[in-house]
Amino acid sequence: PGLNFVAKSAGKLYFGTATDNPELNDTAYDHILDNFLQFGAITPANSMKWDATEPEPYVFTFEAGDVIADLAHENGMLLRGHNCVWYNQLPSWVTANNYTAPELAAIIQNRCATLVGHYRGQVYAWDIINEPFNDNGTYREDVFYNTLGTSYIPIALTAARAADPNAKLYINEYNNEYLGPKSTALLDLVKELKAEGVPIDGVGFQCHFVVGEVPTTMVENFQQYAAIGLEFAITELDIRMPLPATPEMLEQQKTDYDTVVSACMAVPNCVGISVWDWTDKYSWIPSTYPGYGEACPWDANFVRKPAYDGIVIAL
Ligand code: XIL
Repeated sequence: PGLNFVAKSAGKLYFGTATDNPELNDTAYDHILDNFLQFGAITPANSMKWDATEPEPYVFTFEAGDVIADLAHENGMLLRGHNCVWYNQLPSWVTANNYTAPELAAIIQNRCATLVGHYRGQVYAWDIINEPFNDNGTYREDVFYNTLGTSYIPIALTAARAADPNAKLYINEYNNEYLGPKSTALLDLVKELKAEGVPIDGVGFQCHFVVGEVPTTMVENFQQYAAIGLEFAITELDIRMPLPATPEMLEQQKTDYDTVVSACMAVPNCVGISVWDWTDKYSWIPSTYPGYGEACPWDANFVRKPAYDGIVIAL
């Protein structure tokens, strides 16, 4: 019947996917994407990022993002906003001007207010902060941290809450899926924000994994977040393999998808699962990790792989 249908029957809010504007010209792709039984949530892979939405200071462009928001709306799908503040895919003006702390604070405040406000009422959850930590648990020394220290985080979250009080506000990370310094740092940050009354509703676990290397402490890790009453989601799941793929690796990938989705099933506070696109045809993996690929549950010809069955088994 479809992954979203099964996920919802099992008590989750959605099974979703990322998509990107250029792919939507592929009608065979659209035919599978535009199916609420398969996907109940959409995340724009690029078109709501800073470089796409605020190419010049205080000048916003929402055309491409609106296409994704409309697609979600027309198909009855939830929309995940991605993202407000991230060190990557920044327009050069953000980093080139050596802004003072008050200037950069105003820029972040205005961006979150304008972006989140533009989509007010349309977004289930926003990745307000993306990838704020290093793997060792220290803060990433990006332009935001270097200029404002950790204060950029409450500035962004507070502006977002005012702009759309009904959107869930998330911090999204990778390598936080397992017990370790990065997860501990993120958990401590969330506790601190809550104690200070800063709006924070959720945490995203990206889950960009490698076949045969899925972490073993996901459930234990997730339970720590559930223990503080926080909702969370698997936001960007894909499981790559060295190419060429073999039948053995595709079977291991099935097991690995089952393991990851099962970890979300094991903890009620895990509200949903999104894959970072559903087909190998449009996966970001081959260009970012040369020599790796086949990370998605459907192959490049839109045929379901064993990984698809791994997801169904877990749901
Ligand atoms: C990726 C997109 O999928 C690519 O198209 C783009 O070239 C780079 O960014 N973590 C994130 C996502 O939070 O925004 C990234 O998306 C993948 C890693």
